[in-house]
Amino acid sequence: MAEKTTSVHYLNYLQLDKILEAQHPLSNEKEEEAHEEMLFIIIHQAYELWFKQILHEISSVMELFQKDKIDEENVGIIVRRMDRVNKIMTTLVGQLDILETMTSLDFLDFRHHLSPASGFQSHQFRKLEVMLGLKIEKRHQFGDCPYHAQFEGEKKEEILNLEENQSLFMLLEKWLERIPFLNMEDFDFTSKYEDAVNQMLEKEIEGIKSAKLTDSDKEIRLRMIEENRKYFERVLSETEHNKAMKEGETSLSYKATMSALLINLYRDEPILHLPYQFLRSLVELDHKIATWRFRHVQMVEKMLGQKIGTGGSSGQGYLKETVDKHKLFTDLANIATLMISRSYLPELPKNIKDNLGFNFKN
Ligand code: HEM
Repeated sequence: MAEKTTSVHYLNYLQLDKILEAQHPLSNEKEEEAHEEMLFIIIHQAYELWFKQILHEISSVMELFQKDKIDEENVGIIVRRMDRVNKIMTTLVGQLDILETMTSLDFLDFRHHLSPASGFQSHQFRKLEVMLGLKIEKRHQFGDCPYHAQFEGEKKEEILNLEENQSLFMLLEKWLERIPFLNMEDFDFTSKYEDAVNQMLEKEIEGIKSAKLTDSDKEIRLRMIEENRKYFERVLSETEHNKAMKEGETSLSYKATMSALLINLYRDEPILHLPYQFLRSLVELDHKIATWRFRHVQMVEKMLGQKIGTGGSSGQGYLKETVDKHKLFTDLANIATLMISRSYLPELPKNIKDNLGFNFKN
């Protein structure tokens, strides 16, 4: 056996001795056996292993984005890695079901051993948030301490450095700003899109005027269309957009937003298909993390009710605030508001369409 385990062998390749020796329920040490504590430890360890894999994928995606020019084949790699991250996130949400087989009474058998340890101290979770783009000033903070006060030495330094570095959000913004499609030869996307929106709204107004509705119903609907028009005008005006950014209503720059809109509208063009998938994967990741946060809150509600957390926060009160506030790619999700149906989509000139497609010439 000794010989077998010195060559590459399942046991030593996976270093299972280390991993399987790493579960030490505190209740055993205190001789107050709490059966459920093993599950509590293993679930957290499994989460941390998956966080490690997610960080591995996100770091590699960010590395590919650091380059000034991203080869198209790399966009394919990025999309596949993001897809993997999203699949892992689905599993992470699902794992909460396993932990919820433990009841609040079971949890109380060992919870008193845990304080002041808390999920607050998950270094990998914090790294993920910061790498994706969650800035300290956007966080929901409780008490006077910033979130990184939980760490010391190298761990703290690593988090502080990440705060200073470019996040995935910033890399995405720069990439969208670089995309050369907004002014394609004689096709000015923004003004063509504006015309299309006006056509669409005029058609809706005509429809309301000729519909069998009472005058007051017509008035309400026409007022809604005017609100809609103002919304489009605000989004299309660079000055208004910059004002909204200053007021914290939106985070993505004007140029990046316009590129994201173009990619979403012309997603059927082969060259824009992968960029579209990438944008979609970011919105999906944001939603999956928010779903995890929400499910975690629900679990905390079942386990603790209104009790405060072992990390000293208000518990579920604090966690609830983070569900929406800590989303990062809401601006990409909001592009859906700006979508117009394919029938209004400005037709691309043939030469441009050929450049965006698979144009095989013999
Ligand atoms: C019985 C199960 C659990 C309970 C009662 C619980 C409770 C809490 C509470 C009350 C907080 C707020 C901080 C505090 O005051 O401690 C928190 C934060 C956190 N927990 Fe849990 N938790 C549980 C399981 C888990 C699991 C399985 C994970 C997986 C890694 C996890 C990860 C986190 C993270 C990352 C935070 C920080 C969230 C943030 O600040 O946005 N928790 N938890």
